Amino acid sequence: RGPMNLYSLTEDHVRFYEEHGYVQLDNVLTMDEVEVLRRAVAQAVDDKNKYNLNLGPRTDEGYAKVFLQMVNLWERYPVLEDYIHNVRVAEIARKLTRSKYVRLWHDQALIKYPKDSKATAWHQDTVYWPMNEAGGLSCWMALDEVTVERGCMWFVPGSHKLGPLPPIDLGNVLPDNLDAVLPASFRGVKPVAVELKPGSCTFHNGLTFHYAGPNVTDIPRRAMVTIFIPAGITYKKHTHIVGDRSNLQPGEEFHGPLFPVLARD
Ligand code: SIN
Ligand code: NI
Repeated sequence: RGPMNLYSLTEDHVRFYEEHGYVQLDNVLTMDEVEVLRRAVAQAVDDKNKYNLNLGPRTDEGYAKVFLQMVNLWERYPVLEDYIHNVRVAEIARKLTRSKYVRLWHDQALIKYPKDSKATAWHQDTVYWPMNEAGGLSCWMALDEVTVERGCMWFVPGSHKLGPLPPIDLGNVLPDNLDAVLPASFRGVKPVAVELKPGSCTFHNGLTFHYAGPNVTDIPRRAMVTIFIPAGITYKKHTHIVGDRSNLQPGEEFHGPLFPVLARD
């Protein structure tokens, strides 16, 4: 992909991300590209059901209603391997973090099915990751139109500045947990809902508190998430299905084929 194909990320976008801990970017993918991803995710769901594949860290009932989570699909589906290497997306992550390069931590499809779904409770991501430093970030790409009713993402602006706070159990917590997780100094800060068209996305810092409501529409809410590790982040021993097979030593910078470089200066 040549530079013509890059997203025109501005310094204002980068500053917004630094200040608020997230940024909304519209029309990053074309509808043709979205359609390719939708088909690949549908294939993964079919394969998972057909072959009883274990593609996610948890499948217990409490968690399953939050979303169907399928991780590291890039290793199984060439189309999704192409997607993690999509320079238009990866270059955004690199520029937002002002980093020399970014690596993949993992990808995941997150589907909130209609009707019986639960909210994704307020949480930070970093506290679940085997990383010593903060800075990791996610691209949350909408494959369907996401509205408040369909379970779009919400963010507490600036909450990444709080640093890491104790993790919560996402499958087993009251969804309306914002007051429980935010310190008193942040109680007045209003969360922002980000509704997106397919092919539009948010990037959020792994420390930014976020939430998604239940899907009360008739259509599944499908998102394709890529999680990026900026340069200089080191491995911390921590239980996570992706981290467990890494063979990295604690304190060592992330490297190796499980964590490919996706964009570089
Ligand atoms: C969600 O898609 O519901 C939550 C995504 C996230 O926690 O990053
Ligand atoms: Ni999260």
